[in-house]
Amino acid sequence: MAQRLVARRANATLLPAPRCTAKINPFTGPAVVFACHQPQARAIKSTAVSKGVVSYTMQKLGDTLAENFGGAFTKLGSRQFKLDDCPDLTGKVGVVTGGSQGIGFGVAYTLLKHNISKLYIISVNKEVFEGAKAVISDELGQDKAARMVWMKCDLSDWRRVKEVAEMIKRDNNRLDILVNNSGRGIMSAELTSYGVDRHMAVNHMGHVVLTSHLLPLMQKTAEEGNIVRISNQSSNLHTGAPKDTKFASLDEINQDVGPNAQYGRSKLAGILYSRYFNRKVTQNGHPNVLMNATHPGFVSTKQSRDDILEPYPLGGYVMKYGIEPIKKDQFEGAVPTVFCATKIKDSGQYICPPCIPEEGSQMSQDDELADRLMELTRNIITEKTRMDSVERGCPMDDVVVH
Ligand SMILES: NC(=O)c1ccc[n+]([C@@H]2O[C@H](COP(=O)([O-])OP(=O)(O)OC[C@H]3O[C@@H](n4cnc5c(N)ncnc54)[C@H](OP(=O)(O)O)[C@@H]3O)[C@@H](O)[C@H]2O)c1
Repeated sequence: MAQRLVARRANATLLPAPRCTAKINPFTGPAVVFACHQPQARAIKSTAVSKGVVSYTMQKLGDTLAENFGGAFTKLGSRQFKLDDCPDLTGKVGVVTGGSQGIGFGVAYTLLKHNISKLYIISVNKEVFEGAKAVISDELGQDKAARMVWMKCDLSDWRRVKEVAEMIKRDNNRLDILVNNSGRGIMSAELTSYGVDRHMAVNHMGHVVLTSHLLPLMQKTAEEGNIVRISNQSSNLHTGAPKDTKFASLDEINQDVGPNAQYGRSKLAGILYSRYFNRKVTQNGHPNVLMNATHPGFVSTKQSRDDILEPYPLGGYVMKYGIEPIKKDQFEGAVPTVFCATKIKDSGQYICPPCIPEEGSQMSQDDELADRLMELTRNIITEKTRMDSVERGCPMDDVVVH
């Protein structure tokens, strides 16, 4: 959406009424549109507009640095949110996928520090989880560590995802927070054993299955007077999705488009899903069930230090070492997710660090593309799980949107 700066009149006695405006499109840069017709007014007003443009540009630059990098850069953002601003979460129940290391651990640590009553961690590696639990026990105490419940689950195994969701629903009468954070990073294209691109299967579809099966419990929690928040971990690299992405067929998403585009396409899906969910759920009878997408910044984690070397054995060293000093740490990377999981009042937003709503790419704002993505998601999950769920009492409407 174009930003509008209104230049103030520099000298009210010299200048008559007409207002001077500058429209700035963040995609195309500061395109200035003047509505002044008097020459002397134009000179003064263009100076004022220029100052406005400069200050807007400086603010955008500050935001960009704060959104992506750590340390001193984090203070440059036009909005501020700190992990300490997380509210008290006593009595609440949450789920964090990939919550035992990296950014997800930063999120889990913060939710526990702020007294969440029960926190499910969904991930793959037991040793990593046990290491995470030991850190929580050492730093936050045994009581907080005892609130963590680990569920082993590969998000590409949709049968297991459903099983885990059913267990969570059986054991709880509320669910306040769902953080869809697990992810396959910038890596080579790979197909699952059942023939779906692994980036889409893990990063997007596994989380859709999880969210959809947990949704009845989240809706019930909201109906009892609470705000329920779902946060999808996306990335500014969603802009790397292929420009001709249509989400038209399984063949299309199974095309090997290279590690960056493969990853970017799955991250584009995370934003589109949030916007779709906002239209179909939040604004369709469930105003207190919110879903937003986040970009954590460039964060020092296993993904950005190690996994990157798989597709780029040489070039990956730039990511691993070159920008390491200015990457965010896992707690800085957790900030927008904690904001979306505990504070935000909107739905369908794309939130960058610390809590700045951004538009994202034009594709990420395309409702028709979102509809096609979710239709394809529905069709692929139906097709691939027919014997295990659909034909055994899991109607498709339940899998994507209840
Ligand atoms: N690091 C960055 O700069 C950056 C930037 C933008 C977005 N992101 C996104 O942030 C999220 C977290 O990544 P990270 O950087 O924190 O990486 P990380 O430290 O490697 O953590 C990834 C987490 O995802 C879990 N995971 C991976 N594959 C999984 C699967 N198939 N099923 C279930 N869980 C799985 C891992 O589980 P285990 O602990 O069991 O291994 C791990 O806990 C990802 O979605 C990533 O794409 C990261």
